[in-house]
Amino acid sequence: MILSDPQFVAQIETWGARFAPEQPLREHTSLGVGGPADLIVIQRLEALEPVTEGLRQRGIAWGLLGGGTNVLAADEPHQKVYLRLAPNSHDIEFRGNTVRVPAAAELGRSVMECAKRNLGGMEGLVGVPGSVGGALRMNAGAYGTEIGPLVRSITVFRGSTGRREELVPQGGVSFQYRKSSFASDDIMLGVTLELKERPFREILDHVKLLNQRRRGSQPLKEKSAGCIFKNPPGLSTGKLIDELGMKGTGVGGAVVSERHANFLVNRHSATASDFFRLMDLIRERVLRAYGVELEEEVIVWKN
Ligand code: EPU
Repeated sequence: MILSDPQFVAQIETWGARFAPEQPLREHTSLGVGGPADLIVIQRLEALEPVTEGLRQRGIAWGLLGGGTNVLAADEPHQKVYLRLAPNSHDIEFRGNTVRVPAAAELGRSVMECAKRNLGGMEGLVGVPGSVGGALRMNAGAYGTEIGPLVRSITVFRGSTGRREELVPQGGVSFQYRKSSFASDDIMLGVTLELKERPFREILDHVKLLNQRRRGSQPLKEKSAGCIFKNPPGLSTGKLIDELGMKGTGVGGAVVSERHANFLVNRHSATASDFFRLMDLIRERVLRAYGVELEEEVIVWKN
């Protein structure tokens, strides 16, 4: 246990947060691997300032756990406290064709809430798992839609200063392919998105079509973290790995999906180290065959 100061733990509760010691990260990540870590669930956003200040004073490092859908957490006990914002997806505010969404809201659900108000343009993102905050950090994208270009402003808690800031894309925040300009200790609190007015039925038909395509090409029923590597410019990593005949290749319980070769799935109670070894093997083979260095898309948490 990293956080072992009973007085601080008691204070945390009064600020509107909850301490959950030694949580196995395999139960909090979609990949289903990861050793124990102390979590603090932030139930009231006002708790962020005193909690992070208290951790800073005690010299305790912290990180942020969102939906846990794009994380590969090491098996060893984690030497950090992870903060998690309690989900709060019903608080979307609508104003014309702009919407204000809490960062802890689930992305897919938010897309559908907006659709019900005849607001579209986010359909491609409906099957992307995880929270809105996680999607912003990674500039999540699928089927021709990325979240970045829809952003009008973001409220962020800066871990470095303990202050909140309102950022707009023209000044202070930028998005690239699966990447944003946020620092690792920035915590997204909420975002204003500009959407397109479109009839609900039309949005729904598009969503159904994309879901069908996704089901046909991705192993949605298995434990995974989505695509493990980024696509190199102009190439598809899935295709490269597939062409090497690596579908079905496994290390321990970690296996290259037969459905999509850039998805590694947890099939037999895999450990994080199984995934690390399988990723090394893939990287080596792709480098040798194509001279291409693969870059991780998944966020790796190691001590
Ligand atoms: N392909 C293969 N074998 C495979 C996988 C793909 O030959 O095992 C071929 C496909 O047939 C197709 C091409 O590769 O011709 C591209 O495949 P796909 O349409 O599945 O797209 P992708 O580039 O592999 C990207 C994103 C996905 C996103 C899809 C759909 C990345 C790394 N991946 O995959 O995002 O869902 O497009 O838009 O950018 C994620 O970010 O976690 C993710 C899964």
